[in-house]
Amino acid sequence: MPGRIVLFGATGYTGRLTAEALLARGLRPVLAARSAEKLESLAAELDHSLEVAVADSARPESISALLERGDVLVTTVGPFARFGEPALQAALAARATYIDSAGEPGFVRRVFERFGPAAERAGCGLLTAFGYDYVPGNLAGALALREADRPAALVDIGYFVTGRAAIGAWSGGTLASLAGAMAEPGFAFRDGHLVAEPNGRHVQSFELRGREASAISVGASEHFALPRLEPALREVGVYLGWAGPLSRVLQGLSIPTDAVARAPVAGPALRALTARVPGGSSGGPDAASRARTGSHIVAVARDATGRRLAEVRLDGQNPYAFTAAILAWAAERAAERGLEGAGALGPVEGFGLEALEQGCREAGLARV
Ligand SMILES: NC(=O)c1ccc[n+]([C@@H]2O[C@H](COP(=O)([O-])OP(=O)(O)OC[C@H]3O[C@@H](n4cnc5c(N)ncnc54)[C@H](OP(=O)(O)O)[C@@H]3O)[C@@H](O)[C@H]2O)c1
Repeated sequence: MPGRIVLFGATGYTGRLTAEALLARGLRPVLAARSAEKLESLAAELDHSLEVAVADSARPESISALLERGDVLVTTVGPFARFGEPALQAALAARATYIDSAGEPGFVRRVFERFGPAAERAGCGLLTAFGYDYVPGNLAGALALREADRPAALVDIGYFVTGRAAIGAWSGGTLASLAGAMAEPGFAFRDGHLVAEPNGRHVQSFELRGREASAISVGASEHFALPRLEPALREVGVYLGWAGPLSRVLQGLSIPTDAVARAPVAGPALRALTARVPGGSSGGPDAASRARTGSHIVAVARDATGRRLAEVRLDGQNPYAFTAAILAWAAERAAERGLEGAGALGPVEGFGLEALEQGCREAGLARV
């Protein structure tokens, strides 16, 4: 019998979209969140007969009480640096499959390095950053590595948002997570090793529809997952080009943590971002605004001399719509068939390349 799907954070912006995506797949998730009142009104809107449960990251036992072995926990409770670990611990203790929507480099790193080995011993799988950050780059990177006619030494991945992406194109939760994440120590994969490197340290240029577009470096799940697929890899670069006007703000934020409060650029920028985020969910772009933006991801694999071996491009729908749809796809597949391994897994390790490509297609992201 398939495991239950428990959606923690269902009352948030991404949580609600994910609940809708799960229902659209014919699934019946348990909706969990910290506010009984918000849960009741959400269930009233979506489907009265859905099970609801109150759980709060501040009371870890309330999350544990939701889970049994074989369940799939999908969590969209963020910022993950602040609220993420209790859900991770609860999934591990219950030996449930864990899937999150995190995009924060520090949290992603902790899932791979700190929680991965414990999950491997417990025999359960952890899938972090299973949204627009950073599933598409893992897929595009893996396809480019497979297509290279010899083992690649370097892969660069660029994320871009197409269409009209003003600052209102991001949810309050994203801005809150970004503000914290860019100020955390970042990392990169260089010379065959994971190394400390501030987020935004490097700017990389990609060709985008006949024009050069620049993007800034960030720590991501590709740094852990792609070298496992291709042990010859010496460098993995992940670059965000989607932020547009926000990029400069993000670079301003990417200063070693102790300098953030003092920095003349980072201080106001950080305040500007976090000021948009009162306590609790502050929503995000509506359906019309989501429809105005899409996503484009490019992965380029090279040999040690820099010669291009393969290039893969993916086009897709709005990042939030994609995130909700891919979380729903992953939850269904994990509940029905389990994952293809234990421990902290990259998207390709979790499902296999063909299945992941199909899942992304179902979530509105495909090769061009
Ligand atoms: N990887 C990606 O591509 C991607 C895409 C989308 C979002 N995200 C990330 O996902 C996270 C959520 O984003 P969002 O836009 O949905 O933000 P949001 O609307 O602010 O949602 C955050 C959720 O966390 C809940 N929460 C906060 N503190 C809690 C606690 N102590 N216990 C239980 N729940 C708590 C909030 O509860 P209330 O409803 O009661 O306020 C809300 O439901 C962010 O970290 C964001 O960066 C990543």
